[in-house]
Amino acid sequence: MVRSPENLGGVALLGSGSALPSQTLTNDQLGQRVDTNDSWIRSRTGIAGRRVIGSEESLTELSCRAGRSAMEMAQWDPDSIDLILLATSTPDDLFGSAPKVQAQLGAKNAVAFDLTAACSGFLFALVTASQFLRTGAMQKVLVIGADQLTRWVDWDDRRSCVLFGDGAGAVALESTSSEDDCLIGFQLKSDGSRGDCLNLPHLNQFLPLVDGISHEAGGFSPIQMNGQEVYKFAVREVPEILEKLLKVHEVLPDSLDWLLLHQANQRILDSVAERFSIPNEKVLSNLANYGNTSAATIPLMLDEAVKDGRIKSGDLIASSGFGAGLSWGAALFKWRGPV
Ligand code: UT7
Repeated sequence: MVRSPENLGGVALLGSGSALPSQTLTNDQLGQRVDTNDSWIRSRTGIAGRRVIGSEESLTELSCRAGRSAMEMAQWDPDSIDLILLATSTPDDLFGSAPKVQAQLGAKNAVAFDLTAACSGFLFALVTASQFLRTGAMQKVLVIGADQLTRWVDWDDRRSCVLFGDGAGAVALESTSSEDDCLIGFQLKSDGSRGDCLNLPHLNQFLPLVDGISHEAGGFSPIQMNGQEVYKFAVREVPEILEKLLKVHEVLPDSLDWLLLHQANQRILDSVAERFSIPNEKVLSNLANYGNTSAATIPLMLDEAVKDGRIKSGDLIASSGFGAGLSWGAALFKWRGPV
């Protein structure tokens, strides 16, 4: 039943899941390809290794594994899912990979589509899903964040290739009463005028067709990044948007159980935590093992901390995603877990 605007419901996070490729690429191994080394990468980024999708795996398969695991935790029947949102900028199919995921999960009653917002993708998808759930238009939504940036990295550009890895994470969201709402608030932002510092642009190559008519060839150039500009953007905008979010909802940084940021660079995580005087023990970080997996970092980290028992039912989490677009956002939510 669809609810009236004055009678909106809530959103509960009931399940989480994640999946990683089997191939590990260490910093030392990367040093065989480009002029870099373990000590530079660790000290400037905090990254020690990353996972890379190999020939036996795919982004769709990883997304399914993560989604299945979140469904299992939530104890959902695949038939009961209404929507699958796949946040990715690197689909296996440019027309969208979400329908393949839907079919492989056996979620035959779900509508499925991709959502592209680079490293902010998961957060944007979480908020998008919540709108369907609050109105009651949908009851169960699976949000998956998955990316395969290793497909689009220039492996000869040491300024960017050291950062990225592949992975997938997912959450199972259910419509609930407003009293049980777990998504306390959010803020989302875009600024395309600053987007040039991080791109994955089309090839811009035109070929003759017939009678002087040309057509553009398909394909994309590798990732182009001005690391320092992206760094400055992150350490300026993330604290600002988090501060606004906390203020609007009258939440003090002290009362947060966890800070769950997009895993881009340990120095960015440390800088944001310092701005709010959040102690290290409350700052979730796994980028040492996986690097920046784009739309996957937040649900991947969430799932790890839920499964190892750090995040408990009722914990209050402040999260922020940021990246290409430029796009960024923040959400304040409570983890519920299976009931
Ligand atoms: O989801 C968002 C995705 N993007 C990001 O998160 C990127 C944010 N930016 C960053 O994380 C950092 O800017 C980087 C890690 C990319 C770079 O760190 P930095 O401290 O800003 O380094 P830099 O670009 O200022 O370069 C310092 C030096 C340069 O050498 P010179 O000119 O001082 O001689 C670079 O050539 O480090 C050199 N350098 C490297 N050396 C060894 C750059 N990359 C490497 C490398 N190995 N991989």
